[in-house]
Amino acid sequence: MIEIRGFRPEDAAAVASWVDGPAALATWSGNSGFGWPFDAGQLLALRAAQPGRRMFVAVEGDGPPLGLVTLLPDRPGWVVRLGLVIVAPAGRGRGAGAAMVGEALRVAFEEMGAHRVDLGVYLHNTGATRLYERLGFRHEGVRREMTLVEGEWWSAADMSILDREWRR
Ligand SMILES: CC(C)(COP(=O)(O)OP(=O)(O)OC[C@H]1O[C@@H](n2cnc3c(N)ncnc32)[C@H](O)[C@@H]1OP(=O)(O)O)[C@@H](O)C(=O)NCCC(=O)NCCS
Repeated sequence: MIEIRGFRPEDAAAVASWVDGPAALATWSGNSGFGWPFDAGQLLALRAAQPGRRMFVAVEGDGPPLGLVTLLPDRPGWVVRLGLVIVAPAGRGRGAGAAMVGEALRVAFEEMGAHRVDLGVYLHNTGATRLYERLGFRHEGVRREMTLVEGEWWSAADMSILDREWRR
């Protein structure tokens, strides 16, 4: 069974090893400020710079990390931004991503008291989009050509789920 636990500094190297190029980095991390070549130090620096961002890894029993997900509350506390969602390439397509993001939603709504959880996902990332739709996220709109990656403009969908929708 997939569970989430708090991210530990020693998890950073595994997460960095799942990102295999600049396009994969941008797809995963959006405008988090990471640069290619990506390494564990950048993840640890983000964690130090944003102590309010709650970071979790997905695990099965006491096994190695299988995925990462983070929750960043806004100041009043009723909006939580879901981000940095990734599953180890070898473990994809087996429900780990859905289980991990599902658990993160539970933390956001039940423990953090969120009213709304939102996220951004690039339009070409159809697998991730389907995952979020399956979990109940709704589309809100598109930020057109908001980032330039390797000479191509990428647009991003904004998605959100509200407390009452999640509880249904
Ligand atoms: C997006 C991502 C997190 C999904 O993780 P995942 O573990 O593969 O997700 P799931 O296994 O829950 O779902 C993926 C697919 O596997 C299918 N699946 C789920 N459980 C399954 C099972 N037991 N057997 C077979 N297939 C299964 C799902 O139906 C889904 O299919 P679909 O994409 O055709 O709809 C992963 O692909 C990833 O890390 N991508 C790179 C980073 C990224 O894009 N992050 C998102 C940024 S917004």
